[in-house]
Amino acid sequence: MTENLIVANFKMKLASKSEIETWIRNFEKASKNFSSSKTKVILGVPNVFLNLFKDLNKRKEFSMGAQNCFWKDQGAYTGETSPKMLKSIGVEYVILGHSERRKYFNEKNQEIAKKVEKVLKNRMTPIVCVGENQEERRKDLSMQVILKQLKEILENVGRGNIEKTILCYEPIWAISSNNPDDLPNSNEIMSARLLIKKFLVGKYGKLTAERVKIIYGGSVDSFNVKEICLDSGMEGALIGSASTKPYDFMKIIEKFEISE
Ligand code: PGA
Repeated sequence: MTENLIVANFKMKLASKSEIETWIRNFEKASKNFSSSKTKVILGVPNVFLNLFKDLNKRKEFSMGAQNCFWKDQGAYTGETSPKMLKSIGVEYVILGHSERRKYFNEKNQEIAKKVEKVLKNRMTPIVCVGENQEERRKDLSMQVILKQLKEILENVGRGNIEKTILCYEPIWAISSNNPDDLPNSNEIMSARLLIKKFLVGKYGKLTAERVKIIYGGSVDSFNVKEICLDSGMEGALIGSASTKPYDFMKIIEKFEISE
């Protein structure tokens, strides 16, 4: 059974075919001896480069992921990529509700909710990001913000589907590109984790809640992964910057792999 979910979020950091090919070459070397029955690595890469990951995708430890999608399967929607399209080329996971989507594309919980439902309908796994920004943290509103996001995004997600959904606690202020002064410690992350679990227990019951995976995102690297992800009881990580460096990324995966 999969215990750890490590999700790479390349964003638009590697921006050409040759950069991606170099990453793949190095990652293949770095992961040469990696074989696991408990760790799943999801490669959230730009859609235009997904086909370059076909070979990695054949290994059972790796799966292709997208960083976003639209909430319709087909039709006159210029420039969009649909869940159905992603599914048809072998994508299994879709990151949804990332704070950069909220910030630059004005995505709201209701829209994210529609995307989550469509991704589930297409038998893929949504990775739903929730978390507070710096201002909300300063005003001590973090818990309220997270609960509102969960409530609105998961409004129509039933018991059967929540088990197929991954939730990611990602405090926006802790994302590396926001230049955080500090990072949440394992106790703070554990509190957010407990809050999310409590919400799940309330909405879906204890048994179902136990089956939902919760991961952490925000400046994870091979040095801090033990304290911020493992000590806080998280079941995986969403990794931006460090995932674009193949050897560093592999080190993070190994830290999860050797954890109890
Ligand atoms: P980071 O990004 O690891 O560079 O902080 C994480 C994310 O935004 O998903």
